Amino acid sequence: MATTIRVDSGLKNECGQVFNGLGMTRGKFITFEGPEGSGKSTHIRLLRAFLEARGVEVAVTREPGGTPLGEAVRNLLQHDQSEAPVARAEVLLFLACRAQHVERLIRPALDAGTWVLCDRFDDSTMAYQGYARGFDLETLSGVNGFAVDGLRPDLTVLLDVSPGTSRARLAARGAAPDRIEREQDAFHVRVRDGFLALARREPGRFAVVNTEREQGAVERDVRAAVMDKLGIRN
Ligand code: TMP
Repeated sequence: MATTIRVDSGLKNECGQVFNGLGMTRGKFITFEGPEGSGKSTHIRLLRAFLEARGVEVAVTREPGGTPLGEAVRNLLQHDQSEAPVARAEVLLFLACRAQHVERLIRPALDAGTWVLCDRFDDSTMAYQGYARGFDLETLSGVNGFAVDGLRPDLTVLLDVSPGTSRARLAARGAAPDRIEREQDAFHVRVRDGFLALARREPGRFAVVNTEREQGAVERDVRAAVMDKLGIRN
């Protein structure tokens, strides 16, 4: 009979699978991060198909967004012309979306055994509002901790892209850039460097994937990271 030990949000068996209170395997929480134009939506879609083909139940979501409140704030943050938020308000709006998202969608899904693939999460706050806007990282980490209430990603896939390629991909997309995409090049350089610094600080949680290669190679690296770091077999 499998022995169980108590972990923060469930029970863990000998294979390292975590069971929730109803005896179901707890889902994995995988976040995708990266500068603008790093290909997150494409690689989330491809990973979703890969996991679903193996019988994993998957929910795909994004930040800011994921809930009706989050999507409304996303629109305010990115496109509303009436009044741009001041930098401190911007931080708090991202965090308000996150608190709602964690409590209403992400944690219930994980508890029900669903894997959650999230397009951006709290590393974006550290990279954009911390490294790029200049807010103190410790302060941000404290208020973010309040918003996420202890939830951490099991794995963070950082899709890396140079500022030049990022700019070219955004231009090729043809759509008008949003408020943050319109920031100066130096801002986007700090975002990219910030993500890489975060990954160096937590190599166990992060998988850094260079996206300036053909899509199939990137896709294979993302799968390998998921299988390796989360202990999935083919
Ligand atoms: P995107 O996910 O479509 O790229 O748009 C989200 C934008 O919001 C992107 O410019 C990054 C930015 N952002 C932050 O500045 N801080 C955050 O905490 C999050 C989640 C996103």
